[in-house]
Parts: sequence; C-alpha cells; structure tokens
Amino acid sequence: MKQELRYPIPSDAPLEPPEEWAELRDECPVARVTLPSGDQATLLTRYEDVKQVLSDPRFSRTLTAPDAARLSATGDGGLFNSRLAQIIPDGGEDHQHWRRLVIRWFTAKRMSDLRPAMTEMAERLVDEMVAGGAPGDLRASLGFPLPVYVICAMLGVPAADRDRFAHWSDTLLNLTRYEQAEIEAAQAEFFQYMSEHLAAKRAEPGDDLLSELLAAGGPEEGGLSELQVLVTGMGLLVAGHETTANMIGKMVAMLLADRTRWERLLADRSLVRTAVEETLRMDANPGIGLPRYLHEEVEVGGTVLPRGTTVLCSMAAANRDESVFERADELDLSRKPNPHLTFGAGPHSCLGMALARTELQVVLEVLLRKLPSLELAVPAAELERVEGLAVGGLATVPVRW
Ligand code: HEM
Repeated sequence: MKQELRYPIPSDAPLEPPEEWAELRDECPVARVTLPSGDQATLLTRYEDVKQVLSDPRFSRTLTAPDAARLSATGDGGLFNSRLAQIIPDGGEDHQHWRRLVIRWFTAKRMSDLRPAMTEMAERLVDEMVAGGAPGDLRASLGFPLPVYVICAMLGVPAADRDRFAHWSDTLLNLTRYEQAEIEAAQAEFFQYMSEHLAAKRAEPGDDLLSELLAAGGPEEGGLSELQVLVTGMGLLVAGHETTANMIGKMVAMLLADRTRWERLLADRSLVRTAVEETLRMDANPGIGLPRYLHEEVEVGGTVLPRGTTVLCSMAAANRDESVFERADELDLSRKPNPHLTFGAGPHSCLGMALARTELQVVLEVLLRKLPSLELAVPAAELERVEGLAVGGLATVPVRW
C-alpha cells in the first residue's frame, strides 16, 4: 500500500470517473485513503476484491467500534442514523431471517403487476413537466417523486399521503440541510403515521409488503415483531428513495450526454433492459461506496488487513475492471452479461433491486415513447453533481424536448 490519497477523489467531468480509479486498480488495488474526517481507510477498486469483501460476513457493516473510521467530519452515521435502525438485525442468522421475510414480497409477478401503475405515475409526472414548459428539471419532476410514489404503493399508503412521505424521506436523508430538531420531528411524525398505518393494515390487509409481513405472524410464528415491521417500512423508504431518485437522473443524463445512445434506443426499444444495467454499471457518481469494518485480520488482494481496518468498497471502480468487463470504459447499450456490483453483493445486497430495475426500465420506456426529442438543456460537462455521502447524484438534470 504505497499511495496516500484523499477520498472521495474529485473528478473534473460530472459523468466521468476520476482517472485515479484505473491507476488504483492497476497499481494499488488496496490503497490507503484519508477521509474528510481525517481518519484513514483502505480503498478497494478491483472487482474480485470488492466482491470478496462484500460477500464475507467477517467484514461488518456496523462502524461503531471506537477505532472505526468516521466517514464524514460531521459524524454522520450513514443512511439510517438512529436508534431505530438497531431494531433490524444487522448481521448473522437473524438478519438473514429478516431478509428472507422481506424479500418474499419482491416476486417477478409483483414487479410485472406493478408496471402499469408505475407507467401511469411516470406518464403523469412527465405530462406535468411538459406543462411547465421547457427547460424542465427531470430530477425534480420525475426522478424525485416517482420512487416515493412507488414506495407508497409498495407499503399500501394512500396516494393522498405521498407528499408527507417525500418530506420525511428528504428530512431523514439530508442530514446536513436540516436542524437536528427538524430531523427528530420528522422521524417522530413518520413513526406515528406508520403505527396508525400498521393498525389499519392489520384490520384490513392488502397486497402490500406490510400486510405480507404482518401475515407471517409475530416472532413466535417465525415472523417479525410489530416494531420490526414498522421500522422495516421506514427503512425501505430511506433505502429506496434517494438511491433510485438519483439513479433516474444519472441514467437519463448518461443516455442523453451522447445523443446517438438515445437514438439507438428510439430505434430499438428491446435495448431498454440492457441499457438500464449498463447505466447502473457506468455510474461515476455513486457516493463513497460501501464501508466495512474488520473485527479480525483478513487477507484481501494479497494484502493482510489488520483487525480494526475500515474498508471502503468502490463498486463503481470495480464495475470498470477490465478483467471482468471487456471494453470496460465504453457504455455499451447491449452489454450482456453485465454482472455489475452497483447493488452490492453478498448478505446485504440490495433487497429492492428488482423494484429499482423495474422503475428505471419504466422511466426509460415512458420517456422514449412520450418525449422522443428529449435532450439535455446544458452541455453534459456543465451538469452539477451533489457529493452525497451515501448516494451521489446530479443536483439537477435540465432537459428540453
Ligand atoms: C438504483 C437504486 C438502488 C441502488 C443503487 C441500491 C443500492 C444498494 C446497495 C449497494 C445496497 C447494499 C448496502 C450494503 O451492503 O451495505 C443496498 C441495500 C439495500 N437496499 Fe438498495 N438500492 C437501490 C434501490 C432500492 C430500493 C428501491 C429499495 C426498496 C424499496 C432498496 C432497499 C434496500 C434494502 C432494504 C437494503 C438493505 C439490505 C440488507 O441490509 O440486507 N434499495 N441497496
């Protein structure tokens, strides 16, 4: 480990990765980096190493040990930084049990059953953007609201309450933009809402995820406690909103940045699925990657990592590893297979990936159909990024049609 780097590594072009990723993969795949907090971590950029670490339960997701690196200078604890998060087991058999119960809802049939409603929501949002006149901001008009609507549908929340969900999600995730009191108030309101919502679901179950979790019974019957169901519902909003919202914006920006891509999709809609996967692979603004903490010594990529090491897995750098992806730096709309690591890997891999994929495909299909003349309203090089800690993205995606 010879290099000493500040992390995250800045990049000059908003949709391109920093040049250092390729250098690190080639020359220093197990690199020492300094985080904004001043603490040190070990950055992994090769596909095999990232996959190995994410799949190995000895690398813990909890960064609460006294010698674990602090990711940000402000002491932010990650996506769901509160006592509530501890209600869901974070590792071991209990966590796998929780996953098995939750993932049951995400069947291929449910995903395809959700498509018509998702399509209708996306069409309405696009109509509203068009009614507002060009240029529009695709992130604010479509990227931000659609995933909230979808999560509300998944949780069986009435359409009239979607705006409140959007507010809670925004407040719980934008830890730097709101005062602590506002964050706590939003969390308390959200908790209260969900308690009442669960009682209603218990009385009158639907086809939603919460009803399904309740139907599995309490812990004695092999199900979850009422509190665990409630926190799972809150956690799904936090895990599934900003990630998908940002990805919608980034996907559209990547496809419009070189308009021959858009034209190829207009000519051949059968490319939508592989195009979505390829934009997930090529995302150059993924946030800081996945942090893990080592409770014991482990060897990775030929280097022995001592106990107490905080590792950062850069899935985005791994996704451009030439040893796995041919012409890895090229965006190939028909790439197949495409085993990218954008949804993580192993025991914590994204539970909502089937839903996220369906949303991204629906967005692309709706835009191609309704706005074939869509283009970026600013040069791609002028897009402005937001360096979210957990999820990176573009501040706005200005478009015209
Ligand atoms: C493009 C959108 C998305 C991306 C890129 C994404 C990415 C990820 C990643 C990388 C992880 C692994 C975290 C870790 O190992 O520490 C994860 C976990 C998770 N994701 Fe997603 N996600 C997306 C959308 C969603 C959606 C829509 C939902 C649900 C509605 C969701 C629910 C979850 C949950 C519950 C976990 C935790 C799983 C566990 O701890 O076992 N995600 N996601």
